[in-house]
Amino acid sequence: MRHMDEDAPSGEPADGHEPPQDVSRHIKERVRSRYGALARAAGRRAAAAGCCGGVPPAEGGSGDRGDSASRSCCGGGVSKADPVSGTFYDRAVVGGLPAGVAGFSLGCGNPTALVELVPGEVVLDLGSGGGLDVFLAARRVGPAGKVCGLDMTDEMLALARENKRQAGIDNVEFLKGDIEDIPLPDGSVDVIISNCVINLAADKSRVFSEALRVLRPGGRFAVVDTVFQGDKALIPKSMMEDTLSWCQCVTGALEEGEYLAGLRGAGFVDESLKVIQVYEAGVLPAGVRLTSGFVRARKPGAGPVHERPATSRDLPSARRLLTESGLPLDGLEDQFEDGFAVAAARGVSGGDCVVGLAGLEAYGRHGLLRSVAVDPAWRGRGVASALVSSKLDRARAAGLEAVWLLTDTAPDYFPRFGFERVDRAEAPAGIDSSPEFAGACPLTATLMVARFAAAPRA
Ligand SMILES: C[S@@+](CC[C@H](N)C(=O)[O-])C[C@H]1O[C@@H](n2cnc3c(N)ncnc32)[C@H](O)[C@@H]1O
Repeated sequence: MRHMDEDAPSGEPADGHEPPQDVSRHIKERVRSRYGALARAAGRRAAAAGCCGGVPPAEGGSGDRGDSASRSCCGGGVSKADPVSGTFYDRAVVGGLPAGVAGFSLGCGNPTALVELVPGEVVLDLGSGGGLDVFLAARRVGPAGKVCGLDMTDEMLALARENKRQAGIDNVEFLKGDIEDIPLPDGSVDVIISNCVINLAADKSRVFSEALRVLRPGGRFAVVDTVFQGDKALIPKSMMEDTLSWCQCVTGALEEGEYLAGLRGAGFVDESLKVIQVYEAGVLPAGVRLTSGFVRARKPGAGPVHERPATSRDLPSARRLLTESGLPLDGLEDQFEDGFAVAAARGVSGGDCVVGLAGLEAYGRHGLLRSVAVDPAWRGRGVASALVSSKLDRARAAGLEAVWLLTDTAPDYFPRFGFERVDRAEAPAGIDSSPEFAGACPLTATLMVARFAAAPRA
């Protein structure tokens, strides 16, 4: 680990020892000054590269996309020892962006790779820096959606706007403002992303309550940030009072429990944190370590959820839901557009986000109910129940004799819909050779059937 002062921009005091109250009083100006200097340096490198090539890797930017080990977090201060998440930005994902745009990241992860974004959504990036995550999110939400990058540093905004011009991406906007006082109306955003920024804020609880305010009911908070594991109180006072260490995304970080409690305290629900990278201990004492984590939460309130037939565009969301739920993907595509339905939550600009899935495959006069999966953030709110009921209604209306299902994990859930356990030998022809049946583990999967009263038994 480098010494914290090693890469202090010129003009910034290398030794920032101050009493804690001064750390918080002056921190915003220190942060602005540091990131202003990094943006100016990036601008100079871009000008030097001119038309003859990309921006070389340099302090403050992740540079070579293929060399994840060279990546810095917030422009230095920690080095990576135990990469949990692999590379942050896949070469293919940043493909098509000018080298200088793709090569400037001061983040500690890639929130756009971790969050689900769907066409038409409105996304807000807190502390957008040079704009890389804004541009990647903009591709995902498409022309019907929009991504807004918010940053308080003029030089960063200038860099981001120049990057926007070079990248030729229209559905983005960069706004000047403070993440502790977001200049957007209530309920105007579907998804908040952020990359290594909230740790820099002096008043995190204001950031969380502002994030909650601007999200629509049911809106998602999905950020990457530095987070301490262990006891932050073990860190020496001298280090905690070092403003440069704060500006480098180290000492302003919250402990895992503090992060989740802060979100809960602001009014978020379904909060979770997954460590994606662990940094070398360096000067940190035993008993505490710095990580970057993917933090997710949701604003309460369902927002309108509607059911609609699945289309091939829903396949990526369907695969994600099934993988998250540990359900098989075998034969998913076979009857996807004929037999599957999705539950979708409507975004602020009218786009929809897939939060639930259920399929009914037809095999002669029998149906196979499969792939009943709901996004963890939407569980317990009747989404699965509505999907299953409507699939059974359709099966009845289509004159099917019975609907079958295989389940490893939920044999106690389905009896409420009229399903009963049966021996696998009872599976009728067609069902017994379906891809899901063929792929299911005979030892653990339970076969269940709901027979329709008016129809003769199978
Ligand atoms: C570590 S950089 C991360 C930039 C970008 N998210 C990325 O991944 O490259 C932090 C950015 O957040 C901005 N920032 C820090 N504190 C802020 C605040 N309170 N309000 C708005 N922007 C802030 C800085 O100007 C800087 O651009």
